[in-house]
Amino acid sequence: MGRVFLMGQEQLGPGVPLPEPSRERPPLRFITCGSVDDGKSTLIGRLLHESKAIFEDHAAALASDSQRYGTQGGELDFALLVDGLQAEREQGITIDVAYRFFATDKGRFIVADTPGHEQYTRNMATGASTADLAILLVDARKGLLVQTRRHTRIVAMMGIRHLVLAVNKMDLVTFDEGQFLDIVAAFRQFSRPFSFTSIQAIPLDARDGDNVALPSARTPWYSGPTLLDHLEALDLGPTNALAAFRMPVQWVNRAGPDFRGLCGRVAQGTVRQGDPVQILPSGATSRVREIVVWRGSQELAGVGESITLTLEDELDVGRGDLIVSLETPPTVADQFEARLLWMGEQPLVAGRPYLFKLHSKEVPGTVSTIRHLEDVDTGAHLAARSMGLNEIGIVNLSLQQPIGFEPYSSNRTLGGFIMIDKLTCETVGAGMLEFALRRAANLHWQTLEVGMQARAELKHQTPRCIWFTGLSGAGKSTLANLLEQRLHSEGRHTYLLDGDNVRLGLNRDLGFTEADRVENIRRVAEVAKLMVDAGLIVMVAFISPYRSERRMARGLFSAGEFIEVFVDTPIEVCERRDPKGLYAKARRGELKNFTGIDSGYEAPESAEVHLRPATDSPESCVELILHKLG
Ligand code: ADX
Repeated sequence: MGRVFLMGQEQLGPGVPLPEPSRERPPLRFITCGSVDDGKSTLIGRLLHESKAIFEDHAAALASDSQRYGTQGGELDFALLVDGLQAEREQGITIDVAYRFFATDKGRFIVADTPGHEQYTRNMATGASTADLAILLVDARKGLLVQTRRHTRIVAMMGIRHLVLAVNKMDLVTFDEGQFLDIVAAFRQFSRPFSFTSIQAIPLDARDGDNVALPSARTPWYSGPTLLDHLEALDLGPTNALAAFRMPVQWVNRAGPDFRGLCGRVAQGTVRQGDPVQILPSGATSRVREIVVWRGSQELAGVGESITLTLEDELDVGRGDLIVSLETPPTVADQFEARLLWMGEQPLVAGRPYLFKLHSKEVPGTVSTIRHLEDVDTGAHLAARSMGLNEIGIVNLSLQQPIGFEPYSSNRTLGGFIMIDKLTCETVGAGMLEFALRRAANLHWQTLEVGMQARAELKHQTPRCIWFTGLSGAGKSTLANLLEQRLHSEGRHTYLLDGDNVRLGLNRDLGFTEADRVENIRRVAEVAKLMVDAGLIVMVAFISPYRSERRMARGLFSAGEFIEVFVDTPIEVCERRDPKGLYAKARRGELKNFTGIDSGYEAPESAEVHLRPATDSPESCVELILHKLG
């Protein structure tokens, strides 16, 4: 065990020597996982304390906190040392990920302390996504729990290859070797399918420090390493250094008229001056002219180094592009199979537009299909149409632009992604690209000789999509009908897509859940687009209750082609009219998910036309639309 320097939470004390940054081994990143009272925080605190490196003031704060919160009967409570969060101190549970940095003369370490509470799967996945090793804590009295299995599955899924099975609280089973061996045997059997590269089981008493940093006299039967020895000696095996060169462009540095540097961090392989490279997704090629780093230029750069590349040719390169070795470029695709962890408070709905952030690129896209959910405890596949908070599933992604990538299993930087809700800007999902789907890759939009323009000219009209949205019974169909009659009588070529009618045919398989409505709108928007391409003036009369799908529909058309008409009839009026008797049914509880009753309606914020049929005549409403059409 070497001398330890603690640098947790920006509290570097005066006179504490900083460890030299070493080029040999980057810090070992590890996470600790266990159930609420397995003693995670105590273990980390003990790890740091045993190394005699806690600052005086920190130790003093710890002593007074221990008295105040006192969960260890007046003794120092090491859990308090690592629990950086006020809320945890007050509630006695960890609610977020706390990172700590420490170093010995044999290695540097970053530890993510992750919560044990079941609903915080997402925090654990966050900590695990960058970790090299996981310490799984097990209470020696209880053995493997559902939580242990769950954590193992998540750790494996997030690409961690090295495990420590820390069998803690050995003092409470009188340091019984048999008990330890039973737990280890059960764990080895359970974890076999995950094919971890290394599993080191260690009997511990974190509170008293047995086998944490110093070998315990109370486990004479154990001849393995202490926890700290193991962390210091761990060989992570081959890194991505030997694989082909990949670097995502984080920004383009235009420091002067003649300087254009592509800045980023090498995600895989090495790059040398003069190497032929390719830019993805454009496919443009060039050679590396110079590799610039902060101290000047260098001939070679490898994984993890932050560099600036200049190229022989002036290419159009932007943030999020990937610079790769020309000889072995990665796959470029826009459709993928991926594993996704949903973190949104609102469920994920297939077909809904989100922003995908992959290495340094942001691309709009959707989850096109939820193939199945994975039971986190058993691994069983479960059929589902939506995904809730903390659920894990296998999904298909469809992005609006192709990207260069590597499967997450071979490169976490190039295969990991997060999903962002476009409206709230919150991170709602984290995922791992598994492989590209070939489907759309081999399809290309055919440019036909007769185009929209030609068809429209023959009809002497400007094709349009007039999108009516509003509650059931608001008057959408009536007004669309009236408008079509007017246009028709003026010799226009039109078609009216009505919700009820389309649901009797094309969308017969869809109901009224959120997921089904999203798909309903996606399909009708695509049909309307084809009809506009055919040169028609198309009216769409669908409740279309969600802003994000109306926005998606709008996105299919060019500027001015899409006219949103908000048929704004108060629900009391719709309910009074109740032309199909559906409100009455919904009130009696015979109809579920009815818009305005037990399913939401998001009114448009900036529709091109705002109609109020409750106060204005149908004719004047139609005039307003005609006026907008020009
Ligand atoms: S949307 O929400 O998916 O856009 P759409 O316009 O296709 O709805 O269909 C709405 C029509 O379906 C209503 O006019 C009504 O006749 C009928 N309907 C049947 N059940 C429901 C329901 N639960 N909610 C709303 N409309 C329903």
